[in-house]
Amino acid sequence: MKKNIYRIHFSSVDSTNNWAKANIHLLKQDQLTLVTADLQTKGRGRFKREWLSPFKQNLYVSFCFFVRKNQKDLSNIAQILSLSGIKALKQFGFKAGLKWPNDILVFGKKIGGILCEVVCLEDRLCLIAGIGLNINMPEETALKIDQPVTSLFIESGKEMELDFVLEALTQSFVTDLELFLQKGFAPFFEEYNKYLIYSKGQALEFRERDHILKGNFHSINRDGSMNLLMSSGLIKKIYSLEE
Ligand code: BTN
Repeated sequence: MKKNIYRIHFSSVDSTNNWAKANIHLLKQDQLTLVTADLQTKGRGRFKREWLSPFKQNLYVSFCFFVRKNQKDLSNIAQILSLSGIKALKQFGFKAGLKWPNDILVFGKKIGGILCEVVCLEDRLCLIAGIGLNINMPEETALKIDQPVTSLFIESGKEMELDFVLEALTQSFVTDLELFLQKGFAPFFEEYNKYLIYSKGQALEFRERDHILKGNFHSINRDGSMNLLMSSGLIKKIYSLEE
């Protein structure tokens, strides 16, 4: 797959994920297609949230590829992409961490998020792994978002060439994807734990459908799910919830 990468770029699109989902018939089954945009008018985040996508400030990318229906550990693909994002940022000197399951944080603030969607075809699955990475977004835009967010520019005071970061991200993901498609999540487990921002016993809150789940961090399981220690003393295994 390494040599076979194709990019479709829009100056404006509603959402790169939406476009990919609606145009699967245009994607080639034997290649990785990157759908990118300068601007998304309806950028989507997890939990049906908006993903603010101002013109040419940040990266908005959907990595689209096809896998067999029995591909191992498919539910971990967003976690793999978050690791690829962290390693790409590291190349530019940024130390990023992971908030379970797949948020990328720098200095405790969100800098990247992932929305993975799967479309079931007759004999294969099409994976649409969308990532938004905040690169040149200024503070005044970040303040419009209803959670603490940051960008590389806010943290460093330096603007970066978006395509330069995209290249590093793509290389990182292509390498990780090749290994993942062969061996699943297992080879990434240690690395995933290394970048996780939680310490044992840390109080955590998660949104679960219509309520908030509270507990203390216990551990990550080999399948990428999290063990949360509840006030009852019981451990609750939680999975990457609604996308
Ligand atoms: C999150 O809520 O953390 C996930 C954000 C995902 C945003 C990206 S930007 C590219 C792709 N297109 C979208 O509409 N969403 C994803």
